[in-house]
Amino acid sequence: MGCYRIQLVAIVSFMLLLPNTQGWGEEGHAIVCKIAQARLSTAAAEAVKKLLPKSANNDLSSKCSWADNVRVVFPWSSPLHFADTPDNVCKYKDTRDCLDHKTGTKGRCVVAAITNYTNQLLDYGSETKSKYNLTQSLLFLSHFMGDIHQPLHCGFVSDRGGNDITVHWYKRKQNLHHVWDSSIIETELERFYDDLDDFVDAIQKNITKVWADEVEEWENCSNDDTSCPVPYASESAKDACKWAYEGATEDSVLEDDYFFSRFPIVNLRLAQGGVRLAATLNRIFDTQFAMSV
Ligand SMILES: *[C@@H]1O[C@H](CO)[C@@H](O)[C@H](O)[C@H]1NC(C)=O
Ligand SMILES: *[C@@H]1O[C@H](CO)[C@@H](O)[C@H](O)[C@H]1NC(C)=O
Ligand SMILES: *[C@@H]1O[C@H](CO)[C@@H](O)[C@H](O)[C@H]1NC(C)=O
Ligand SMILES: *[C@@H]1O[C@H](CO)[C@@H](O)[C@H](O)[C@H]1NC(C)=O
Ligand SMILES: [Zn+2]
Repeated sequence: MGCYRIQLVAIVSFMLLLPNTQGWGEEGHAIVCKIAQARLSTAAAEAVKKLLPKSANNDLSSKCSWADNVRVVFPWSSPLHFADTPDNVCKYKDTRDCLDHKTGTKGRCVVAAITNYTNQLLDYGSETKSKYNLTQSLLFLSHFMGDIHQPLHCGFVSDRGGNDITVHWYKRKQNLHHVWDSSIIETELERFYDDLDDFVDAIQKNITKVWADEVEEWENCSNDDTSCPVPYASESAKDACKWAYEGATEDSVLEDDYFFSRFPIVNLRLAQGGVRLAATLNRIFDTQFAMSV
C-alpha cells in the first residue's frame, strides 16, 4: 500500500516537472525571443520595454513561455498554439485547418492568433485606451511566433502533431512532438554549446553570414500587411512531413542519424522565428511611431 502511494506521488511529481508539450520548450522560446529583441528598432525596443512586466527586467525571453504557463487559467487559449492539418497533405490551408478541433469553432489556431495579437498591439500609443491588456498581447504574440515555426505545430490532426507517436530519443522513451519542442535543442546544448547564450550567438552569426541573403525574404510581408503568418504555417507543414515524421514512426529509435540531419532545420526555424518576430514588432511599433509624430 505505502509503496504504491510513494510510487504514485513520484509519478505525479514527475509529470508536473515535464515540460509542456505544446510549444518549443522553454529554451526554444527563449532563443526566439532573444534573437528578436536584439533586432528591434528604437521605437519597438521602447514599446516592448514599457509593455513588459517589471519582473522581466526588460528581458523579453524571460516571459516567452508565459503563454504556456497560462493555459490552465485561460483554457480558451489552448487551441491557439498550433494549426494541425489532415494527415499527409503536407500543406497548410487557412480555411480548412484553422479551427479548434474539439469544438469545430473556426478561426481558433496559431495563425489567427498571430493576426489577432498583432492587431491588438496596433492600439499601442493611441489616444483611446485599448480594451485589451497589451502586455498580454505582446507575450502571446512573442510566444505564438515561436510556436508557428515548430514544424510539428502544423503536424497531423490524427496524432496531435506527433504527441501520440512514441519514439525513443537515444535510450529514452519520448513522444515525437517533444523531441521537436525540446530534445533536439537540449542535445545540441549538451554537445555543442556552453550555455543558451552561446547557442544564441551561434545562430546570430549565421543570420548575419550564412543566411544573410535570405533574411530580407524571411522578413518580407506581402500586401503591406503587418504580420503574415500563413506562409510560416505552410513552411512548417512541409517541414513536418519532410523532416519530423520522416523515419519517425511509432517505436522508432531516433539517434545520431536523425539528430544530425534535423538539428540544422531546428536552428533555421528558430532563426526565422526570431527574425520574423522582430520584423513584425518593428512594423507594429514603427507604424505607431510614424502616426504619432
Ligand atoms: C484574441 O485575443 C483575445 C484577447 O486575448 C482573446 O479573447 C481571443 O480569444 C483571441 N482570438 C484569437 C483567434 O486569437
Ligand atoms: C495585464 O496582464 C499582465 C500579465 O498577465 C498582468 O500582470 C497585469 O496586471 C495586467 N494589467 C492589467 C491592467 O490588468
Ligand atoms: C551555422 O552554419 C554552419 C554552416 O552552414 C553550420 O555548420 C552550423 O551548424 C550553423 N549553426 C547554427 C547554430 O545554425
Ligand atoms: C516581398 O513580397 C512581395 C509580394 O509577395 C514581392 O513582390 C517582393 O519581391 C518580395 N521581396 C523580397 C525581398 O522577397
Ligand atoms: Zn505554445
